[in-house]
Amino acid sequence: MTPMRTAIYPGSFDPVTYGHLDLIERATRIFDRVIVAVLRNTDKPGLFSIEERMGLLREACQSFAGVEIDAFDGLLVDYVRSKGADVVVRGLRAVSDFEHELQMALMNRTMAPEVETFFMMTSAGYSFLSSSLVREIASFGGPVHDLVPPHVEVALRRKFQSSL
Ligand code: PNS
Repeated sequence: MTPMRTAIYPGSFDPVTYGHLDLIERATRIFDRVIVAVLRNTDKPGLFSIEERMGLLREACQSFAGVEIDAFDGLLVDYVRSKGADVVVRGLRAVSDFEHELQMALMNRTMAPEVETFFMMTSAGYSFLSSSLVREIASFGGPVHDLVPPHVEVALRRKFQSSL
């Protein structure tokens, strides 16, 4: 029997976008279990709290089998080991992502040689999409319905209305 393969998909997810969801859905076709792990970073408060980001992810991923939503502190490689996993999934949008991703993958490999970083190319339609652009557009009342699921759009609208 082949062992169950668990992959960790880490990120900030502030908030989750259609680009992330495309990657998660494609990762579920390759791995038995995909743990989407939100970084708890106290230096960068972000727009949504960690619990809000996890709630938005949970709702967005409810139709995907084998996906769990979690959060982590500290080093990614320590978290990966604590979950009994040995694969980290990351998305690559454009050449501009490559340098930083390569640096992180190689640094993680130095610390944990048994952990493999698995890169997936973002689908062409989402190659321009990022959470930071979504936050910026939403902050000015611009349209984000092609970029995030409806419940995330509602959450963004509420967030920016409450800060006015
Ligand atoms: O969505 P992001 O912000 O691009 O995700 C970055 C993330 C969470 C993958 C990265 O910042 C990370 O792994 N942070 C945990 C701390 C850590 O392990 N740092 C060393 C990486 S070489």
